[in-house]
Amino acid sequence: MSNKGIRNLFIFGSIFFFVIFIGLTIDTMKKVDKRAPKITEEVDAGKKLWHKYDCIGCHTILGNGSYYAPDLTKITVNKPEGYLEKFLVNPRKVKPNAAMPVLGITPEEAKKIVAFLDWVSKVDTNGWPPKPVLARYRVPQIPGATVYEKYNCKACHMINGVGGTSGPDLTHVGSRKPDPEWHKKHIRDPQSVVSDSAMPPFPQISDEELNQLVDYLITLK
Ligand code: HEC
Ligand code: HEC
Repeated sequence: MSNKGIRNLFIFGSIFFFVIFIGLTIDTMKKVDKRAPKITEEVDAGKKLWHKYDCIGCHTILGNGSYYAPDLTKITVNKPEGYLEKFLVNPRKVKPNAAMPVLGITPEEAKKIVAFLDWVSKVDTNGWPPKPVLARYRVPQIPGATVYEKYNCKACHMINGVGGTSGPDLTHVGSRKPDPEWHKKHIRDPQSVVSDSAMPPFPQISDEELNQLVDYLITLK
């Protein structure tokens, strides 16, 4: 190739890739705006409280923070109304062994913090943080385990290392709580047997499902 040819290749090549670069940048900028919902006043107030109580001294969020306590990026997903507010005001009251201290958060502050956490959980993070590898374990093919899946008990409970940590680990619940009648009352209306329980009631569960679910729970020894 002549010198002139090389120069033209350089100039037009540069222009070509520069145009692609600008196009991709514009495309990304358009998407970035849609990746997070609107910031309301409550969300903004919650973010300030997040700093005031130095939550990041123990937790991570969107990749930043400390590894002492669980990541909170998607913590509001699957949590029933009111649960996290109660937890923030007094963790031990809803979770007897909670390691998170009482920070002196008022119920009004808790609402704002949860609004902030809820906003964070709606940010499109392209699937981050990844689910633990264990989460791909297979559900045993017994009716009670299917009911357990259907009502999403695992949002709060862990069995064999899979599930949430808001409620107690159920891997050996059958040894602790062998009485089926206790479980039936507890699942329909937790506060009827555990005053102050933060577990939501499941009045919608049918009698047949309830029997299958309880049969399953008491086998977990
Ligand atoms: C929002 C979170 C949440 C969900 C969803 C939830 N639980 Fe719970 N669960 C808790 C909390 C908090 C406790 C501790 C207080 C209590 O004993 O009621 C608990 C306690 C329990 C206990 C007693 C464990 C023990 O060692 O004393 C059992 C059994 C149980 N849950 C089963 C279930 C089943 C079955 C489901 C699904 C139908 C379910 N939970 C859904 C939060 C939840
Ligand atoms: C001293 C460390 C510490 C600080 C500070 C702290 N946390 Fe926690 N937090 C924990 C630990 C540990 C857990 C894990 C659950 C447990 O054992 O209490 C937790 C759990 C949680 C959970 C999960 C509850 C559940 O049931 O899944 C939320 C939400 C939470 N913290 C929010 C906050 C917010 C918001 C702040 C700041 C206002 C905060 N934390 C400050 C230690 C801390």
